[in-house]
Amino acid sequence: MNILSRAQLAAHRKGTTPGGTGLHKPANCGLATCSAITMHERELKKHRATEAKLRKSLASEHALLRQQDELIQRQDVLSKESEHRLLNGLQLIASLLALQSRATANPEAAAQLTIAANRVATLGRIHRHLHALDHADSVDFKSYLEKLCHDLSEMALNGSPERVLAVEGSERRIATVTAIPLAFIASELITNAIKYAKGRITVRLESRPGQGWALSVVDDGPGLPEGFDPAATHGLGMKIVSSLVRQIGGRLQIARGDDGKGARFTVLLA
Ligand SMILES: Nc1ncnc2c1ncn2[C@@H]1O[C@H](COP(=O)(O)OP(=O)(O)OP(=O)(O)O)[C@@H](O)[C@H]1O
Ligand SMILES: [Mg+2]
Repeated sequence: MNILSRAQLAAHRKGTTPGGTGLHKPANCGLATCSAITMHERELKKHRATEAKLRKSLASEHALLRQQDELIQRQDVLSKESEHRLLNGLQLIASLLALQSRATANPEAAAQLTIAANRVATLGRIHRHLHALDHADSVDFKSYLEKLCHDLSEMALNGSPERVLAVEGSERRIATVTAIPLAFIASELITNAIKYAKGRITVRLESRPGQGWALSVVDDGPGLPEGFDPAATHGLGMKIVSSLVRQIGGRLQIARGDDGKGARFTVLLA
């Protein structure tokens, strides 16, 4: 225990230090309690300085986050704007081609221009559905195919009961860069099936254990001639399909449909 001399006690009672901890402490007091108070005051000052620094850096981080949010919003607006322009541009080209088709006297040229107009319109549809799903760099491809097929059957099958266009298989999330050409491939194959077959058309998305995954379009129509070569046809459709399959690094398999009837086109992807 600390025994104080009279002189020490007098010196202790004489002075106080204002501010700091708010505790009273005479200046130059040699008592242990007073030195502890001095030490705490020093610590407190340090903590207050650190707190001030932390508040400052927190404020600048908040400002940075705000800036980032604004940038993301601006980018979102810009990408929506450019998507909108792309759709308008495709619509305009499709209309111009259709107009030119009606203006030409040559029936063969008119038919080709109509086909070209339809292809551009299909590309527009592919982009519109992608836009509606609102995924920037990937897409749930089965849901996407369902929307596309709904459109195609409303347009080309006219609700005829003996004609069915069904999407089967499992959902698969794929990169948009692959989804766009693959949707175009599907659309060409479905259009062919609508044109050349009569009954049910099945679009199937499935995993192939050990072989990646596959998209197939199967119909129960007359099927393809023996030795069918997609590169040697007169039409443009199979050439577009072959070239897009190559572009996405896939492989095209052509076979008979279910029960040896009709045609089956399969795009195999790793
Ligand atoms: N699902 C199918 N069933 C039967 N035959 C088919 C089928 N798909 C394609 N074919 C045959 O393959 C040919 C080539 O198809 P392709 O899509 O290249 O040309 P197209 O459909 O005749 O013309 P385009 O696609 O340029 O409008 C067709 O003309 C048709 O004889
Ligand atoms: Mg075709």
